[in-house]
Amino acid sequence: MALIIDPGDDAYRNRRAAALSPTPPHIAAVPAATPAAASKPVAPARDGAALVNAMRCYACHDLKKALLGPPYQAIAARYRNDKQTMLEVLAKKIVLGGGGNWGLVPMVPNEHVGAADARTIARWILEQ
Ligand code: HEC
Repeated sequence: MALIIDPGDDAYRNRRAAALSPTPPHIAAVPAATPAAASKPVAPARDGAALVNAMRCYACHDLKKALLGPPYQAIAARYRNDKQTMLEVLAKKIVLGGGGNWGLVPMVPNEHVGAADARTIARWILEQ
């Protein structure tokens, strides 16, 4: 197979454009995307586990081990009997940061986390 490296010049681009048009029949025959497929959300809502990963919480937290922050399982165990209230409290603290509950080190604010995502994450942590 010939290896074609794009030299990045106009001559190459023009040759390529000429080769690609008019649209070959096998491409022209491909039906346009159906409305159902087109209306799918681009970024589906992510679950708590995915969010915790994406928001870099694991830099300071582990599921089971104490790092700079407490393990998620310890947080869930501590608040097991008060999930309803703690869901709101933790969702706020995740965004704003704060300390006093686990030791001397406060949590930094995580302002890149939206309020809705913070609630999803808090719900997930309370289930660990
Ligand atoms: C720079 C380190 C750091 C990062 C990053 C971090 N945390 Fe924390 N987190 C901490 C520390 C330290 C504490 C303990 C605070 C305390 O003693 O009240 C904590 C506590 C918590 C608590 C328990 C709060 C309480 O009052 O019991 C939750 C829940 C939590 N973090 C979730 C998260 C989530 C979710 C993220 C990612 C968006 C995150 N953390 C990112 C350091 C961090």
